[in-house]
Amino acid sequence: MAFLADSLKRIKPSATIAVTDKARALKLAGRDVIGLGAGEPDFDTPDNIKEAAIKAIRDGKASKYTNVDGIMELKEAVVRKFKTENGLDYKTSQITVGTGGKQVLYNALVATLNPGDQVIIPAPYWVSYPEMVYLAGGEPVEVPTTMESGFKMKPEALERAITPKTKWVLLNSPSNPTGAAYAKAELKALTDVLVRHPDVWVLTDDMYEHLVYDDFEFFTAAQLEPRLYERTLTVNGVSKAYCMTGWRIGFAGGPEPLIKAMAVIQSQSTSNPAAVSQWASVEALNGPKDFIPKHNKIFKERRDLCVSMLNQANGIVCPKPEGAFYVFPSCAGTMGKTSPTGKKLKTDEDFVTELLEAEGVAVVQGTPFGLGPAFRISYATATSAVQEACERIQRFCGNLR
Ligand SMILES: Cc1ncc(COP(=O)(O)O)c(C=O)c1O
Repeated sequence: MAFLADSLKRIKPSATIAVTDKARALKLAGRDVIGLGAGEPDFDTPDNIKEAAIKAIRDGKASKYTNVDGIMELKEAVVRKFKTENGLDYKTSQITVGTGGKQVLYNALVATLNPGDQVIIPAPYWVSYPEMVYLAGGEPVEVPTTMESGFKMKPEALERAITPKTKWVLLNSPSNPTGAAYAKAELKALTDVLVRHPDVWVLTDDMYEHLVYDDFEFFTAAQLEPRLYERTLTVNGVSKAYCMTGWRIGFAGGPEPLIKAMAVIQSQSTSNPAAVSQWASVEALNGPKDFIPKHNKIFKERRDLCVSMLNQANGIVCPKPEGAFYVFPSCAGTMGKTSPTGKKLKTDEDFVTELLEAEGVAVVQGTPFGLGPAFRISYATATSAVQEACERIQRFCGNLR
């Protein structure tokens, strides 16, 4: 009898973590490696947030268990955030707080999926979505998009993917891995479809809401289409915009019965997210936000640098995304060519492996995100490193025969 559960056979380990580990091992071996794999800001958590955490520890507020799905002060801060930033009215009883956006998404899926239930996931997608759906016993249904359509799902494609078994449609804008974000009219076209399907729920992952460039205006589904409010879970968190990936706080607003069910899952698995992180997040949400536009100015410069330099690399085509801190270029033009070590590039995995070997640049292949041959670059690292990495990619592509 096998010791490990059958459910493990259905899921893959994270490709983004795999590439980060490989780059770290090469670095330890003394190689000059530029890592563009990790999906987290290079900026440190702002000082006011750190100070609030230190104060919470000193005041003895971090020592004990808290309410399972978040302290009231944080739920109140989340209610204010949704009201002022998204025009969404939630009561504190409609708010849940978990250990990162990741746990919140996972709780939602575990709390709702029965075997055979389908979750529509536009591709490319964040690597964890299909695996979480599998772990929760459901079936991911991918809806492919193309680079030409800006990696955005068309309403007709959404309509076609909906079946009597569809429980959720998962939206992620701005997107990991493409950075693509739905403009108001594009999102409205999708919510118009969803209004006609009253049994389908909307799981919207707005983690990169604040990371948008060129005056892009962010909208979330329930804000744009109030008729979806009763069947939408609006997920967000402090990880990306507030440079708090290590603190592990995510949250969501939604219908009370769902929020309660998610708290039951959390109560029997991890209990409350770290108390100190919750107090830090209260300050993040209630405190000054002037660092966000400052960071965005730097992110935008890096995005523009990547797009311009990668489009000058032989065989690479790099669209300009609206947000997040990723670009998702196609490397189709390099397929079939031979690397300096004599390896013929047949897949995007070959491309990223040879790039790491030849030039010490760590990026993630596109296929695990649901579209290839392509690769994801996270430009959330020093601008000089981004520039150097793009120069190396240009040289690598120029040396392919
Ligand atoms: C699209 C998306 N959703 C959710 C998350 C999870 O965020 P957290 O670190 O808060 O768990 C990530 C993190 O990479 C992400 O890219």
